[in-house]
Amino acid sequence: MTLTVPCLFGLESLVADEMKRLNLQEVRAENGRVHCRGTLADIARLNINLRCGARVLMELGSFPAGDFEALFQGVYALPWEDYIPKDGEFPVKGYSLNSGLHSVPACQAIVKKASAKRLGEKYGMATLPETGSRYQIQFAIVKDVATLYLDTSGEGLYKRGYRAQGVVAPLRETLAAALVTLSRYRGKDPFCDPFCGSGTIPIEAALIAKNRAPGLDRSFSAQRWKNMDGKLWLEAADEAMDREFHGSYDIWGGDIDPKAVELARHNAELAGVEDCVRFEVADAGKFHRDSEYGQLATNPPYGERLMEKSEAEALYRMFGAACRELPPKWRVLVLSSHTEFERSFGRQANKKRKLYNGMLKCDLFMYGK
Ligand SMILES: C[S@@+](CC[C@H](N)C(=O)[O-])C[C@H]1O[C@@H](n2cnc3c(N)ncnc32)[C@H](O)[C@@H]1O
Repeated sequence: MTLTVPCLFGLESLVADEMKRLNLQEVRAENGRVHCRGTLADIARLNINLRCGARVLMELGSFPAGDFEALFQGVYALPWEDYIPKDGEFPVKGYSLNSGLHSVPACQAIVKKASAKRLGEKYGMATLPETGSRYQIQFAIVKDVATLYLDTSGEGLYKRGYRAQGVVAPLRETLAAALVTLSRYRGKDPFCDPFCGSGTIPIEAALIAKNRAPGLDRSFSAQRWKNMDGKLWLEAADEAMDREFHGSYDIWGGDIDPKAVELARHNAELAGVEDCVRFEVADAGKFHRDSEYGQLATNPPYGERLMEKSEAEALYRMFGAACRELPPKWRVLVLSSHTEFERSFGRQANKKRKLYNGMLKCDLFMYGK
């Protein structure tokens, strides 16, 4: 079957690499999503192991859908009964891009009606109770072609289950993992985030250092599906745990706000990595390190959500001066939506990469080789 992993724009190649490392076949990236061929066992493996992907969708079929009748007939023709049992709950969501069928609520209603008709006929029931497990249907209509999926993940994969509530401007865990991956941190050198907030980046660095699969502490929709043997999930979890490392790591997060530091410590405990991450109250403007090598990945305030632009610029100036004191072999990555970042920081990036923090367009400014 074809499995599709949507992701934040800019992370496609990282997700594709992750899928290849999991030995998935025919991995193909496009804008905002990556496809591959896989089995039911791979659904469990992808959900448990992916760090940068948003969710795992199982593709059921694709067909031209220029009007409502074509959409209805195309959906009705799919073998829904192979997946959704008599009592399955099957809500519908989706989107339409550059297509004649542009009203999402209307398409949603058609997809629901056609799948319900098919299931009702197969099960000989006029009304389906929908009291059982959830089989979330997703549709994508792009240039008049509809593709139908079942969402195997449930909550997005960025929800690892370690983040406490009530955090201001946290970074998505999937994006934090991407930053750590792009910094090429593998658990060897010191790793730092001087604007750590709730600790997402250092915690993802710790999970990467330990090679701990991010999905081991949560559940997924498809775990409750009738056609997915529970054994597949246990095997995928065992396989992931067998690959864990147990070493000592130097991972540090600092923040000027004591409450953020307290929360970061709490989150690290929830993630089970408190033994390899240190958090401290510290001013990033006075950041200092002597070690010859190291990786720093951070997302300072942008001057949009947390503080005024001019305050952010002053902070970037101080942080830039502190970073210039680092030994030359350090690699520094800063995510910011501030268009004048490099000028305030005081140095042109060696490389830039466009990334989206939610809907906010950002640049990842990369310094060092
Ligand atoms: C965008 S948030 C970081 C969010 C974090 N990546 C997370 O996932 O929770 C920026 C953080 O920078 C901190 N901050 C602001 N000024 C600082 C300074 N001078 N030194 C250190 N931290 C500072 C804020 O307290 C805030 O927690």
